[in-house]
Amino acid sequence: MELNTYRVAIIGAGNIAGSHLEAMRAMSSPDRLTPCAIADVNSARADALAGKYGIRSYIDYKEMLAKEKPDIAIVTLPHYLHREASLFAAEQGCHILLEKPMALNTKECDEIIAAVRRNRVRMMVGHTHHYTAENREAKSWIASGRLGKLVMMNDRRHLPYDTPARPGWFFEKAKAGGGILTNLGSHSIDKLQWLTDSRVTGIKARVDYSLRRGDVEGGGTAFLDLSSGVPATISQSGYPGAIVDETELLFTGGSLLLRSGIGLWAGDGREYREVPVPPQAPPFVLQFEDLLGAIEEGREPESSMAYSRSVVAAVESLYRSSELGTEVAVDQGGGANERG
Ligand SMILES: NC(=O)c1ccc[n+]([C@@H]2O[C@H](COP(=O)([O-])OP(=O)(O)OC[C@H]3O[C@@H](n4cnc5c(N)ncnc54)[C@H](O)[C@@H]3O)[C@@H](O)[C@H]2O)c1
Repeated sequence: MELNTYRVAIIGAGNIAGSHLEAMRAMSSPDRLTPCAIADVNSARADALAGKYGIRSYIDYKEMLAKEKPDIAIVTLPHYLHREASLFAAEQGCHILLEKPMALNTKECDEIIAAVRRNRVRMMVGHTHHYTAENREAKSWIASGRLGKLVMMNDRRHLPYDTPARPGWFFEKAKAGGGILTNLGSHSIDKLQWLTDSRVTGIKARVDYSLRRGDVEGGGTAFLDLSSGVPATISQSGYPGAIVDETELLFTGGSLLLRSGIGLWAGDGREYREVPVPPQAPPFVLQFEDLLGAIEEGREPESSMAYSRSVVAAVESLYRSSELGTEVAVDQGGGANERG
């Protein structure tokens, strides 16, 4: 059977754009996705990736979408531009792969969801943790019940956030939405929700603003209630120190230590021993395959719009809890959850 092929345009030629271009090359059927153009207000960046991958370069992404008429647009812009670019791409009839987090807040998510539904296109949000080999293996251990009942999860992410390599917009609340807890916290919240097939229903958080740059937080701690009934904590620090990226899963009959992208360890009664993780295609390749399946089978991708909105809703509640000094309920927006 002949497989459908799709032309792809990329909006934003920054740090993550190259990962999408590489993943298109690494697909098992390389003709399935053909990049045609890339746009960036920084023309040198767009030109560099366009030259490397033999595609056209634009400064104005609206001109690019109007001229190129791609089947799929990938949005890899700063967070404050996710809404604007998604609305335009949907109006142009493009399916959309939108980088995480979906938008600055749930109000913007709702506008995106309405535009995508109105234009009858498909949207996936790039929650890449769904496609990471170790995460998938950990999820299958939870589902198998072999360690008993999952009773709690602790997610810790510590790394120096204020580095010269991080683009300046990440430190402006108006452009990024928040600091480490928006950027990496959305990955952690996604991972905890997805591992347990549940949504965050309540949060108590305390956030710290001691970065030397910008007006975003540099760290924080949160206690999460999830609809699965399995409670979780998140600890994130962007201040200097040892680099940690670990999710500990504690069961009635054992424990798992998940280091996404690195490995998975099971507690044997005394200490952790590494467990084999089946090899698979790279996460960005699996993400594309899920998007194509969603387009062709008329189904939602793993990270549907409603799901991705739930991550933004949890992040929003996290900041509100810290401001109010109390636990807050997460508004999961009835209408947005109905379809996709
Ligand atoms: N899935 C992941 O693991 C992962 C990893 C890194 C980044 N991200 C996400 O990807 C997105 C982009 O992050 P990044 O690190 O690549 O940022 P970046 O700053 O490196 O890239 C953004 C690019 O957008 C360009 N840009 C800004 N305004 C524009 C406009 N109006 N039109 C066209 N181009 C414009 C900038 O010049 C820049 O080159 C963010 O949502 C981020 O959270 C996801």
